[in-house]
Amino acid sequence: MNASKDKRPKTKSQDFHLFHALVMLSMAMLLLPVIGTSKQNIPQLKLTYKDLFLSNSCVPFMGSAEGLDFQTLLLDEERGKLLLGAKDHIFLLSLVDLNKNFKKTECANFIRVLQPYNKTHIYVCGTGAFHPICGYIDLGAYKEEVVFKLDTHNLESGRLKCPFDPQQPFASVMTDEYLYSGAASDFLGKDAAFTRSLGPTRDHHYIRTDISEHYWLNGAKFIGTFPIPDTCNPDDDKIYFFFCESSQESSTSDKTILSRVGRVCKNDVGGQRSLINKWTTFLKARLICSIPGNDGADTHFDELQDIYLLPTRDERNPVVYGVFTTTSSIFKGSAVCVYSMADIRAVFNGPYAHKESADHRWVQYEGRIPYPRPGTCPSKTYDPLIKSTWDFPDDVISFIKRHPVMYEAVYPVAGEPTFKRVDVDYRLTQVVVDHVVAEDGQYMSCFLAQVRANEIMPSFKRMFR
Ligand SMILES: *[C@@H]1O[C@H](CO)[C@@H](O)[C@H](O)[C@H]1NC(C)=O
Repeated sequence: MNASKDKRPKTKSQDFHLFHALVMLSMAMLLLPVIGTSKQNIPQLKLTYKDLFLSNSCVPFMGSAEGLDFQTLLLDEERGKLLLGAKDHIFLLSLVDLNKNFKKTECANFIRVLQPYNKTHIYVCGTGAFHPICGYIDLGAYKEEVVFKLDTHNLESGRLKCPFDPQQPFASVMTDEYLYSGAASDFLGKDAAFTRSLGPTRDHHYIRTDISEHYWLNGAKFIGTFPIPDTCNPDDDKIYFFFCESSQESSTSDKTILSRVGRVCKNDVGGQRSLINKWTTFLKARLICSIPGNDGADTHFDELQDIYLLPTRDERNPVVYGVFTTTSSIFKGSAVCVYSMADIRAVFNGPYAHKESADHRWVQYEGRIPYPRPGTCPSKTYDPLIKSTWDFPDDVISFIKRHPVMYEAVYPVAGEPTFKRVDVDYRLTQVVVDHVVAEDGQYMSCFLAQVRANEIMPSFKRMFR
């Protein structure tokens, strides 16, 4: 992530401090103490909310007695502020003292999107009573008194940028003033699209996934999206997104859920004759998180719940942490699987999957692959003559329409879950990871949130070295 470089506020998934803030803010959250060995993957530390409170390391935000339904937050380290999206309100809190002199602005229903837009403004979207609506909030320049004012003259439709429903899952990320979003396209939430909107000049093409291509997305639930460079050349930069969707296998009896990683090129402007204003570089692959079963068949944790990207020194290679749960009614459990970008790229560089017709299964595509290889970005790295996706030959465009799926799946680096919990009455829902330097070396600390019935209980766990 280049968030620290360009000094813009960080989004939730980019900083675990935010998770601390979340713990501080949510009265429903608990931390439980348990000491164990990291070999057996037992959380080394769990604290109840009460313990945390008594330890004086927790500051509850007493903004309102009402259920505010905090859904999104944005840390603005530069200004020392925390923005909180809630029901009907956005709060601007001071990190020094959350409860002192906080500001509040009224907004459309449930705030789901809070993204840093430029040096002075943030972009905000709310569900707006099933009519999602977006706008800009002026925070003012750095080092000056914070303004915090919603620009009511420039409100716009939030369709495909923000969900219609406060509970609908979605993912969004802002980069270079473009908003990439995976959200439901209607208020029923049955169909979702991955889109790019906004942009510095606004004359830029609004781009989305093609609904008429039914192999692209099938009832997708977006979990997270991240800009990740692929080479040293910015023209190869991609947006990766993580989601689950229904399997497209012919047997209607097994309605399996699959977890996926997908990607598009940042410089995709769509096709010229076909796939106009649609992605022409869209590819997706399956993410596997499974354990071998007693009968030889693998047991899959198939439903992705959360994704966290742990930055490394190489911005092209963050470590990908995913939390998964099972969809089986018999076998209940959750797991954390860890993936490398190298493995993900290898799958995207591997064979494509092919489906002859709706009644056939996906098989490995054995035919001729058009040039330039479908899914590669128009860039000098590959071919200096292809300057834009408009230059893609027709066979590349028609290939990507029917072959957006990779044949191989992405497996976790350890070959299996790094952490799992089976036959328990709770589910893991969120993960945030941090590097910790201890006396005896470096550790990864993995903060996991779990839900049991109606309570949320994050547990802190030091996983492995
Ligand atoms: C940021 O974007 C807003 C909304 O488009 C615009 O009014 C403002 O001038 C921009 N600020 C800067 C510093 O470019």
